[in-house]
Amino acid sequence: MKYLKTTLTALTLAFGVAGFAHAAPIEIKFSHVVAENTPKGQMAIKFQQLIAERMPDKVEVKVYPNSQLFGDNKVLEAMILGDVEMAAPSVSKFNKYTKKLQIFDLPFLFKDMDAVDRFQQSDSGQELLNSLKKKGYVGLGYLHNGMKQISASSPLQVPADAKGKKFRIMSSDVLAAQFEAIDAVPLKKPFSEVFTLLQTRAIDGQENTWSNIYSKKFFEVQPYITQSDHGVLDYLVVTSAEFWMGLPDDVRADVKTTLDEAIVYGNKVANDKAMADKQAIIDSGRSKVIVLSDDDRQQWIESMKPVWKQFEKEIGPELIQAAVASNQ
Ligand code: LMR
Repeated sequence: MKYLKTTLTALTLAFGVAGFAHAAPIEIKFSHVVAENTPKGQMAIKFQQLIAERMPDKVEVKVYPNSQLFGDNKVLEAMILGDVEMAAPSVSKFNKYTKKLQIFDLPFLFKDMDAVDRFQQSDSGQELLNSLKKKGYVGLGYLHNGMKQISASSPLQVPADAKGKKFRIMSSDVLAAQFEAIDAVPLKKPFSEVFTLLQTRAIDGQENTWSNIYSKKFFEVQPYITQSDHGVLDYLVVTSAEFWMGLPDDVRADVKTTLDEAIVYGNKVANDKAMADKQAIIDSGRSKVIVLSDDDRQQWIESMKPVWKQFEKEIGPELIQAAVASNQ
């Protein structure tokens, strides 16, 4: 009996110690759809590096870029199933889960990225991080990409030039309404399909940031880019509540601090890339950048802005007012 007891104690100790010594780090698979040389790509790599430096025994981040693991239409479902722990889809891709985030898609709402920043840091902006709570997601922070431009196979100087043309959009009803407002045809398609759709002329154009147009080579198959700055492409870094609340408190706190730092870095990359990638496109000579006169721009604003009214009820007039106020 004594022998049995001693053996059991020894075994428990051995397995306990061995178990502790070899406990695998908690894995965070970070899935995204863009290239590595983009704000989101760089932010994810920075997050991975910082975690590897600071908590190598506790957490390991694995980054999957270019829709390698999941495309945007699947990643949120996969997160709830526990197949991926983190992602940063564009705020336009949460349509199925909340109507509130549609605010970011309203055309000509924010005059620049500083205004977007001010709104996101305001109480209303911070509250929006919780808008997915009921669906089982935790919004961990916003990440910037930049202002959107419209690329096309023919020059778009005024909205009438877009009439009848097909444009790829993200899965957002506001973006659909925005193109319908100029009598164009919006098509909701995953990011991974855009290059081929443009190359084969299955569609006429798309809207995106300088960074995405450059890194995914859309400019090589789109001879015109209208510098419209008509909307914003921003991301929400998300995880599932089940994964997040299942982390030990200290680990959760350290991961969050590290993520916040990576986001600050990513936002700086976004700022730099908006200028550098635009210049690289111009220098390539593959695509002509169309600059709008004040009158032309006014036409785009007048045709697209009625979309606000269409979505005012779903988004909430106070939220829209708060966003407008961030322009000052
Ligand atoms: C798009 O689908 O155009 C973008 O949301 C891709 C991205 O993640 O920047």
